[in-house]
Amino acid sequence: MKLPYARQSINHVDIRAVTKALSRPVITRGPIVERFERAIAEYVGARYAVACSSGTAALCLAFSALDRESIVTTTNTCAATVMAALSADLEAHLVDIEPDTWQSLDVTVPVHLMGHPSVLSLIFDWQVEDAAHALGAKFDDGFMVGSCKNSKATCFSFHPSKTITTGEGGMVTTNDQGMWEDMKALKDYGRYKPNSHESFGLNYHMTEFQAVLGLSQLARINEFLDKRRELATRYFAKLDGFPITLPLWHDGSSWHLFLVRIPQEKRKEVGKAFEKAGIQNQVLYRCLHTMPFWGGKEGQFPEAEAYEKECIALPLYPDLTSEDQDYVANVLEGALEEKTTVSGA
Ligand SMILES: Cc1ncc(COP(=O)(O)O)c(C=O)c1O
Repeated sequence: MKLPYARQSINHVDIRAVTKALSRPVITRGPIVERFERAIAEYVGARYAVACSSGTAALCLAFSALDRESIVTTTNTCAATVMAALSADLEAHLVDIEPDTWQSLDVTVPVHLMGHPSVLSLIFDWQVEDAAHALGAKFDDGFMVGSCKNSKATCFSFHPSKTITTGEGGMVTTNDQGMWEDMKALKDYGRYKPNSHESFGLNYHMTEFQAVLGLSQLARINEFLDKRRELATRYFAKLDGFPITLPLWHDGSSWHLFLVRIPQEKRKEVGKAFEKAGIQNQVLYRCLHTMPFWGGKEGQFPEAEAYEKECIALPLYPDLTSEDQDYVANVLEGALEEKTTVSGA
């Protein structure tokens, strides 16, 4: 594939740092993971951070440390958001999306889709923020996503598609000392002190060489965020006048994704044209409630179901060039201009 919807940016400084870390005597459960935790906590303005093996693990830790019995979240998210809640024995309720933001409002677990910080609902305080897309994003009041001003904990993913990567990896931030201590034990077989297992726990450790990569990537975060914003701005200019729906502009977004909505009668053609042109044909997300695991029934959340039929992610990542963007726009324009095939004709 020529152009995936997302891709990591690894340079020679990252590679040198990881190579050096691999020749150290300690390659996991060492001091660099703690350094990375402190660096992320400082970057987002939270008191504490816990590094772990994935964004899913981060959600599992946060949900397990939460003193609640249920969550409410969006159907328009990665399955991980809900699977993690189920793994912590929480009941998970799904809701429909808003037609303009494509996010859900009355939730206790917001998902900052695309890197756009969610709008705080009037009804609930947030429990856990799923900020897998939103490292580097800022709320309208200037606080960073991750500062946990309105929530108990915030979870990040360092999957290669995200703002920064550690290969696989994740982080939870919190201002709650009790939750921090519980989450550290939960990722270490329930150990609060050496040789003392005091609660249930598994192994969600991040390695030292992943943390080294995380620190090296964090040093480049402004470069990544600036480039993503520049590319998003350029898509807005390039796609102006196209018969499609663009995302809302959000000044504080980390621009993890550039999602657009194609009229339903054109969506198949656009997908086919993308595949033919070597551009990934990706929907983020297919509704969870219509998946077999959640019952597989349509009709419950009409906004999200309409969105799923129209959504496509345009490539967006720091190493994408303006020529790549022109190519995507040309392929899209060609597909939109093509005559719609009438089925059976
Ligand atoms: C919104 C959201 N939440 C959670 C996750 C899970 O993160 P990970 O893949 O690092 O486990 C993802 C995945 O990429 C995601 O997009």
